[in-house]
Amino acid sequence: MLHLFVFNNQLFAQKFENLASTPPMGWNSWNTFQTNINEQLVKDVADIMITSGMKDAGYTYIVLDDGWMALERDPKTGDLIPDPKKFPNGLKSLIDYIHSKGLKFGLYNCAGTKTCAGYPGTRGFEYQDARFYALLGTDYLKFDWCHTEDINAKEAYTTMSKALRTAAHPVVFSLCEWGNNKPWEWAASVGHLWRTTGDITAQFDGIKSYGNWHANGVMTIVDMQDTLRKFAGSGHWNDPDMLEVGNGMTAAEDRTHFSIWCMLAAPLIAGNDLRKMSEATKSILTNKDLIAIDQDALGIEGFRYRDKDSVQIWFRPLHNGDWAVCFVNRSSVSKTIDFNWQNETVTDDLFNKALDPKTTTYQIRDLWTKKDLGTTKKILKANLLSHDVLMIRLIK
Ligand code: GLA
Repeated sequence: MLHLFVFNNQLFAQKFENLASTPPMGWNSWNTFQTNINEQLVKDVADIMITSGMKDAGYTYIVLDDGWMALERDPKTGDLIPDPKKFPNGLKSLIDYIHSKGLKFGLYNCAGTKTCAGYPGTRGFEYQDARFYALLGTDYLKFDWCHTEDINAKEAYTTMSKALRTAAHPVVFSLCEWGNNKPWEWAASVGHLWRTTGDITAQFDGIKSYGNWHANGVMTIVDMQDTLRKFAGSGHWNDPDMLEVGNGMTAAEDRTHFSIWCMLAAPLIAGNDLRKMSEATKSILTNKDLIAIDQDALGIEGFRYRDKDSVQIWFRPLHNGDWAVCFVNRSSVSKTIDFNWQNETVTDDLFNKALDPKTTTYQIRDLWTKKDLGTTKKILKANLLSHDVLMIRLIK
């Protein structure tokens, strides 16, 4: 009897399976709009997801971040209320619109008593809010970590995971507790992705201070990922935060940011204003060769093979025996790459993979310029401008 109970309880505690066998892709309102969101914006985003080719490239979820709610819950029912000024027709018709386009819809809330922007949090309302999301047809929940003093993270996220499961509408559960409580050690059965760091900002390197908090540049976030790859895999992903492509960095910096996110098997959640997206930004976000690396079926994160003289070299094993390789110039000056494959033996001891260019010859394809760069028999030579990237696929 006891055995059965424990078994049932474990089953009950599990998240929805098979929703994120590859890293989730979509768009989220926060990085550009913060709480300044509304119905028309979301409809426009849904339309552009289709016309821009983003949906075809794999972007699926449209996620409303903080600021979608009214400041108080319904005094009678305790239900959350979508802000009637921002969403005059409520959320149901908007979600139906998004679903009618073949896209999926996500919402944000927080494990604490309030969200980070001061809207009603979920603490004590987990089952009620889960039911609210399910009735709306919500497909994705980002769950934040503000106002959580004295709360145990594993307990809080497990409670919400169980509540979502009980509400019975399949939901991708995105934990956003910034890596404070090492979610990679306990969240694989709780959710589908977990933030590994504090917030990103559209800056290539370093930290940006906002007084009592700070946000991280792209490379600063990258520095925090290297030891976490063993925890990620199909259905449970490290999340180094949403994309800042198209939000003010240079084209080279955007390419580098996107390339490393693909090497890391990171969720690809665009955070730019799609209505004003340049052709350059669109071509970065919809580069199918890059996205194929991110979404590779093997689901093994890449690793930093070398970090020397401000040039990093990353390797990622792929499902068909190919490898993705990424050279990043972190410095403010140009660098030359002079990489003799014949002198390198690349081993991924964690996942038992090895690349031996001495015994196997690979074709080299540049995934940004779409040019063939010969084979691994000859030395790879290239000039890398400041903050730029060379992203290649070694084809077996
Ligand atoms: C936190 C999260 C962000 C965003 C804001 C919303 O800072 O890390 O991604 O959701 O809250 O207030």
